[in-house]
Amino acid sequence: MSNKMSDKAIKFTYLSQEELVEAGAFNMKMAIKALQQGLLKFKENRIIFPDKIVQIFNEETQERINCLPATLLDEKICGVKWVSCFPPNPVRFGTQNLSAIIILSNIINGYPICVMDGTLCSNMRVAAMGAAAADKLARKDVESIGFIGAGEQAKMHLIGMKSVRPCLKICKVASKYHAEEDNFISSLQKILPDMKFVACDTVMEKAIYDSDIIVTATSAQAPLLKADWIKNGAFYSHIGGWEDEYKVVQMADKIICDDWNTVKHRTQTVSRCYKDGIIKDEDIYGNIVDILDGTKPGRENDNEFIYFDAVGLAYVDVSIAYAMYKHAVNQGFGKELALQEDMIFDKDLEGKIVL
Ligand SMILES: NC(=O)c1ccc[n+]([C@@H]2O[C@H](COP(=O)([O-])OP(=O)(O)OC[C@H]3O[C@@H](n4cnc5c(N)ncnc54)[C@H](O)[C@@H]3O)[C@@H](O)[C@H]2O)c1
Repeated sequence: MSNKMSDKAIKFTYLSQEELVEAGAFNMKMAIKALQQGLLKFKENRIIFPDKIVQIFNEETQERINCLPATLLDEKICGVKWVSCFPPNPVRFGTQNLSAIIILSNIINGYPICVMDGTLCSNMRVAAMGAAAADKLARKDVESIGFIGAGEQAKMHLIGMKSVRPCLKICKVASKYHAEEDNFISSLQKILPDMKFVACDTVMEKAIYDSDIIVTATSAQAPLLKADWIKNGAFYSHIGGWEDEYKVVQMADKIICDDWNTVKHRTQTVSRCYKDGIIKDEDIYGNIVDILDGTKPGRENDNEFIYFDAVGLAYVDVSIAYAMYKHAVNQGFGKELALQEDMIFDKDLEGKIVL
């Protein structure tokens, strides 16, 4: 086989998570900017966003692999995230719940341009969404943040929140297991040395009491967060499925989603409230893009309790992945790999085909 590639070669850049980090693509401000652009482009109908494909392997544990495509028409980029969610992983194997791979193709000739780790991008996307919302909806003078759940999304969410609210000083964390709280703190303390961390020893009320920002990021399906614990003027970022009692939804002054039409068909607490007739479409204040583009005001006073629910939008993953890819390649990172060096029948196939 010749080492020389023909002009029929199809090549793409491969980017591992380590290369993305080394390239400086773990950049929360860059992710938030790409997310905002993605949301605005979707509102302008410049994005193709098909339904995701879900394959569930265990109804009880919700172990699943999802396929989430989207196309950025103006950027001429079509991407797909292939993401697994295996909630028992941390306890069963001591490994992470989610893992993802992303493929980006151009829509000029349809060829792939990049295959990259998608776990970093996916987790950054979740945090960037919460952070973009907090930027508009959390009080400006927040000091404390409380977490229920201490896993990968929770860790990334703290990075996102600190990026838009550097004034955050205290972080309290409660999880199912004390060891997870310790792990959360030891991972983040060195990254955010100006922050005071408090492990709440699985007592959720302690993490939430007096917190200006509340985050639930659990793999539970239970009403863990109680309305009575929530401080006046708090901003709440809900990440998992069913994590709070209905009263939390009912007491919100504003409920804002990444995309209500998507959220209402899922199994989040607000989706459950909707299906159970506790809230109606008109109880949703809007989508975050309506606040970003100034269609609706965000926080209007210091006393509002604002509830933000995001389920994830694949075009945002693709928008962030494309920004990370461009950044990494500009910094000289990534391996160029050949998918094919020549077209099938231009190769020397003699004696190599089995009929
Ligand atoms: N909204 C989105 O866009 C989005 C994106 C990705 C993941 N998620 C969801 O976020 C959640 C967290 O994901 P992760 O990757 O951080 O998972 P993870 O397994 O790393 O962490 C889950 C955390 O939840 C805690 N937990 C589970 N049951 C609990 C209980 N009964 N009480 C208190 N804590 C409990 C665990 O102890 C752990 O700390 C999952 O439900 C996942 O599906 C949402």
